[in-house]
Amino acid sequence: MKTDSEIRLIEIPKVHDKRGSLAVIEKDVLPFEIKRVYYLFDVPSDSFRGGHAHKEQESVIIALSGSFEVVIDNGKMRKKIMLNKPTQGLYIPTNIWREIDNFSSGAVCLVLASTNYNEAEYIRDYDQFKNQVKG
Ligand code: TYD
Repeated sequence: MKTDSEIRLIEIPKVHDKRGSLAVIEKDVLPFEIKRVYYLFDVPSDSFRGGHAHKEQESVIIALSGSFEVVIDNGKMRKKIMLNKPTQGLYIPTNIWREIDNFSSGAVCLVLASTNYNEAEYIRDYDQFKNQVKG
């Protein structure tokens, strides 16, 4: 069953015709209301992004262009997901460690976030994250 504590891929509806494709993210596609949108671009292929978890922020990550890999870790299990479709969003609930790497040339990583930027709700230390999810 899908719950909001479950990491999952969200299919983003698209309209396709001979002129190309158009993807739409409306309120009911996401399990949260969007507060902030940011994107990573011009990322060197050997770059490593993320390396943190959030106490409050939920997010959806989309490979708008190109591809990259996202490691997700709930403190017990770790898995790697390749994102390479602009119609696929990876939903990441709170308290999940994420790392993003292996960016292809020209990759654009779009992040839809449920909160405004607040450094205080980041967990940037892996041991602290492990302790937080254990407790
Ligand atoms: P960082 O969290 O290291 O990015 P990533 O998770 O993609 O590796 O953020 C890089 C810098 O940008 C850091 O100084 C914080 C700043 N930043 C903002 O000012 N606002 C934002 O919304 C985000 C996500 C980051």
